[in-house]
Amino acid sequence: MEILGIDVGGSGIKGAPVDTARGVLLESRHRIPTPRPSTPKAVAKTIRKLCRNFQWEGPLGCGFPAVIQNGMVRTAANVDSRWIGCKGERIISETTGLPVRMVNDADAAGLAEMRFGAGKDQPGVVILITIGTGLGTSLFVDGTLVPNSEFGHMELRGRDAETWASDFVRQNQMLSWKKWGGRFNIYLNELEKLFWPDLFILGGGVSKKFNKFSDYLHTRAPILPARMRNDAGIIGAALAMEIKGSKNGKG
Ligand code: BGC
Repeated sequence: MEILGIDVGGSGIKGAPVDTARGVLLESRHRIPTPRPSTPKAVAKTIRKLCRNFQWEGPLGCGFPAVIQNGMVRTAANVDSRWIGCKGERIISETTGLPVRMVNDADAAGLAEMRFGAGKDQPGVVILITIGTGLGTSLFVDGTLVPNSEFGHMELRGRDAETWASDFVRQNQMLSWKKWGGRFNIYLNELEKLFWPDLFILGGGVSKKFNKFSDYLHTRAPILPARMRNDAGIIGAALAMEIKGSKNGKG
């Protein structure tokens, strides 16, 4: 199926048409800076611009950095707080005139990674972590997504884990790989204590530098860097829309 995948981030909104059967982009991605403030209306209009850029008239999937329950936005850690309580899916659908599925951004990346990347055919419990401005997480049990896991907000050292162990913190506090790797290892150990995963997958920009910090990670479960890299969020958002379509008997 061809579905437009969109990934809303704190600084940019990216998208491209996706072939969901092969897990590839059909055209090069297009990026528009996230409007400031990133209100529901402003973001929905930016998504409409992206659709027009591709002259898109089909369904679209949208990854968004918040808890999304049945199309409703429940949190807003790195976007305008006016999103909280909004029927996000409906706003984007009304603004673009297209069928929309909205999902958490890390859940989207996880869907792509489990179908086409490092988690392909992986049974048991898998935790994928997107390491960036925050820590996004997605949880899978025998290949099925348990949505909105939000382990980036687990309490660690008396604070939100993502304010202590994200890549933004590494860069901002100029932490060495050893120092930051040690912190991230504490985070992984805490997750292991609670969830006993069979596999960790690490995504986000920093996963490209996996060999710089992998020596500092000591977990029971194996750890793999994500394979889909930059496009996971876009491809996974399209997959989420495909799943919604098939549940409605349309796919
Ligand atoms: C948000 C998550 C999101 C993650 C990555 C966190 O601050 O709470 O919903 O997945 O950032 O964008």
